[in-house]
Amino acid sequence: EKGGWDSFMDKEIHEDPAAVQRTLLGRLNRNGDLNLDEVHIDEHDFKAVDKIIVIACGTASYAGMVAKYAIEHWVRIPVEVELAHEFRYRDPILTPRTLVVAISQSGETMDTLMALRHAREQGSKVLAICNTQGASIPRESDAVLYTHAGPEVAVASTKAFVAQITAAYLLGLYLAQVKGAMFRDEIHQVLDSLKHMPAKIQWVIDTQSGTISDAAKRMVDAKSFLFLGRHVGYPVALEGALKLKEIAYTFTEGFAAGELKHGPIALVDDGEPVVFIVPPERGRNVLHAKVISGIEEVRARGAFVIAVAEKGDPDVERYADVVFWRPQCPTLMSPLVDVVPLQLFAMDMAKLKGYDVDKPRNLAKSVTVE
Ligand code: M6R
Repeated sequence: EKGGWDSFMDKEIHEDPAAVQRTLLGRLNRNGDLNLDEVHIDEHDFKAVDKIIVIACGTASYAGMVAKYAIEHWVRIPVEVELAHEFRYRDPILTPRTLVVAISQSGETMDTLMALRHAREQGSKVLAICNTQGASIPRESDAVLYTHAGPEVAVASTKAFVAQITAAYLLGLYLAQVKGAMFRDEIHQVLDSLKHMPAKIQWVIDTQSGTISDAAKRMVDAKSFLFLGRHVGYPVALEGALKLKEIAYTFTEGFAAGELKHGPIALVDDGEPVVFIVPPERGRNVLHAKVISGIEEVRARGAFVIAVAEKGDPDVERYADVVFWRPQCPTLMSPLVDVVPLQLFAMDMAKLKGYDVDKPRNLAKSVTVE
């Protein structure tokens, strides 16, 4: 039930902090090391993994893209992310040492299910990251790591996304642990940052909701939006664009901010709303300055800039028209908070337009046909 909220989407966004927290729960042993015995893949098999291919659709694929940045950095093995329906119809290079990770909230997405069968037929092990106990995808996989976001009812996926990132991060850190790719202390430090994320997400919900709904009121008549980010901010931009198009029926496009000058900047005209995901760690992260210069470029062409950025970021204060602030956090953790204002913004826009945010037209919660 909706538990007092006016929509399931509202309720589920407010459960983002709990979704991360519950997905972390019970996965660390007394010494603070990761324990993933529950997935029933032998430690030796995990040690042998030399490549990961993530297969998923929609929001789940964006969680996979976020995880790619983290896992390649931590484990130093290649991670590919592919839309399940594309993977299924090509001739992917798989070996017994390839771990295929199928990410799905519902566990019933036919495209993802067919892709995992395709992978298993060729001898690869498949691990499912899934939110639904006993669904087809976990049942047909070799192993499963459940996200504990709780049932997600609204068609637009929200809390499942942050839980999927959390679970994929746990998988990456576990691989780093068994392969000795990181020092134990480093792993503990990352886990510690992860544990702090629910409170940071809560801070965004508690302090930014007013700014977000004001922005939605100002922008409700906008015909289109561009969403831009780099590195882990890139999949967040794609997800923000998907949320707004699927429930507010606004034309959106998300892309890597570095692509601006390779074409999309031609779309920027007077008053065009452009959403930027500005990386944290200003001064230490080279991409921060690059994203800021992207903001300057579109501003010079008259764009209306909405930024998601670290609280007090002086460059953003100078150039953005509207800012959704995030508390300080490491770059790899930022997607967990940055998506939240974009979820709220899409919901506010859809409500202002009078749409049913839980049941957008033409869409189903689980897509059980190919
Ligand atoms: O249940 P799944 O995670 O496998 O679903 C995948 C996509 O269909 C899903 O994420 C879809 O893109 C949502 N409507 C996004 O909000």
